[in-house]
Amino acid sequence: MKAEEIGLKDAQVRPVVDQLNDLLANYHIHYQKLRGCHWNVKGKSFFTLHAKFEELYTNAIATIDELAERILTLGKSPLSTYAEYIDTAEIEEIQTVGLQDIKMVEAILADFAALIDIERGIMEATSENGDDGTNDMINKFMQFKEKNTWMLRAFCNMS
Ligand SMILES: [Fe+2]
Repeated sequence: MKAEEIGLKDAQVRPVVDQLNDLLANYHIHYQKLRGCHWNVKGKSFFTLHAKFEELYTNAIATIDELAERILTLGKSPLSTYAEYIDTAEIEEIQTVGLQDIKMVEAILADFAALIDIERGIMEATSENGDDGTNDMINKFMQFKEKNTWMLRAFCNMS
């Protein structure tokens, strides 16, 4: 499939697609971090956080699939190996075994901030290039993390 089929020129799509692949790579690292937090969380907040991390990784895996399929819709290939994800992502892996529950939440908040930052860049590029479909999709991803930033900060008693 070529972007022309949906009325977008290659020159409009090119600056957007590389950033979508960056976001995809970062999301995979974030996703696996959430799984680690879900598995390894301990303490009095176990039931709350175990469930919350599951909600977040379930959302992340759906986001990853939508992102990859948007890249294909735009006529390019999504990155699909872990080697590429680790190589491309700015978000770093962490060891969650033995990590204190609040430190886990702080790590997820830091990932959210990094992902939102990438998404704001993509929204700038998509509005400059007339790609409303990608803009709308990314905006929804961002709003989910904005709201969850508020909730996780409230959980940690942060202002
Ligand atoms: Fe589980």
